[in-house]
Amino acid sequence: MTQTASIPLFSDRVLANLKAPDATNDSNLVVKGDTMQCDETDEIFPVINGIPSLFAPSPGEGIEVTERVRSFYEENPFPSYEGLEEFGELVSKGHANPFSKSLLDAIGYNKTILECGCGTGQLSHYLQLNNNAVLGIDMSLASLGLAIQHKQQNDLKRVSFAQMNIFNLAIKENSFDVVISHGVLNHTFDARRAFGLIVRMLKPGGIILIGLYNRPASLPILIRSKLIGLFGSHIDFFVSNRIRDKKKAKIWIADQYYNPHETWHSVDEVMEWFNENEISYLNCSPAILGTDGEETTDMFAETSPGTRYQREVTQLSWLGTIAREGALFDVIGKKKPAHV
Ligand SMILES: C[S@@+](CC[C@H](N)C(=O)[O-])C[C@H]1O[C@@H](n2cnc3c(N)ncnc32)[C@H](O)[C@@H]1O
Repeated sequence: MTQTASIPLFSDRVLANLKAPDATNDSNLVVKGDTMQCDETDEIFPVINGIPSLFAPSPGEGIEVTERVRSFYEENPFPSYEGLEEFGELVSKGHANPFSKSLLDAIGYNKTILECGCGTGQLSHYLQLNNNAVLGIDMSLASLGLAIQHKQQNDLKRVSFAQMNIFNLAIKENSFDVVISHGVLNHTFDARRAFGLIVRMLKPGGIILIGLYNRPASLPILIRSKLIGLFGSHIDFFVSNRIRDKKKAKIWIADQYYNPHETWHSVDEVMEWFNENEISYLNCSPAILGTDGEETTDMFAETSPGTRYQREVTQLSWLGTIAREGALFDVIGKKKPAHV
């Protein structure tokens, strides 16, 4: 057995939070050689090319959308790596990126983190710094394959990955300190329903960060997709300014302009989802203009959501900023304590 092959599939802190997709919160998953077994029903789950597979559909799910999106990301694992990337290179890129660095700082130390729709796993790898234990789940085996390859090549033990469906998670409720889903729910058949499911995995008092495509920015992206069809992908800001690797650039263009299913959302819509799910608003990234969110350096600080008018103006201003690079905005909230 090679050194890399001996890295456990899951860290102990993550394994304690898992269960089979349809099992109760009191059951556990037991790793048995190359499989996993539910201690309640004895159901066995396979490990496919090193990836624990706990994927299951859910009743009433828009299976047609889930299937189309899954096969798109099997062909286009996103965001992919720039060639052969070392963990040190990934960490220095993460530190240089204001979003990921602020997120790591705000999370702090020794936390359990669930990333729903981790894609090829870069953010999950980065966030296992500071002794955090991270679980990245996704439905694309191709994406998870790249994530696990990076984990094994760099001997990373606090990050774990599994194939799961957001609509039928193999995770115990109230189990993680932080839940993140960045640019994912907008590729599901029902983002609101998906949100209601992922927040259940959060401990009371835990933090949710949800990143979605912003609605006003859909128009420039639609126009750009037509122009790219005519003039080629070099007119995309991200491709011409940021990405060095040709394969990664191709995957970015497919994800941005040829995605089989995407929806667009507003800050107010996310605030409604927060209200429906006992989540209190903390902050928004980029910040709501004219609020204390513009001054704070702590991403998880409790800031004012501003007025509806301020939020509308802020989102229009994003046409000149985030709309160039995918139009993702993140809203951060806190699950209310159980006794409130
Ligand atoms: C645009 S990628 C985002 C990847 C990563 N979060 C990032 O920001 O780079 C969307 C990911 O969501 C995953 N996804 C979409 N629907 C899902 C579902 N129902 N269950 C699990 N993963 C899903 C896709 O497989 C894909 O990897």
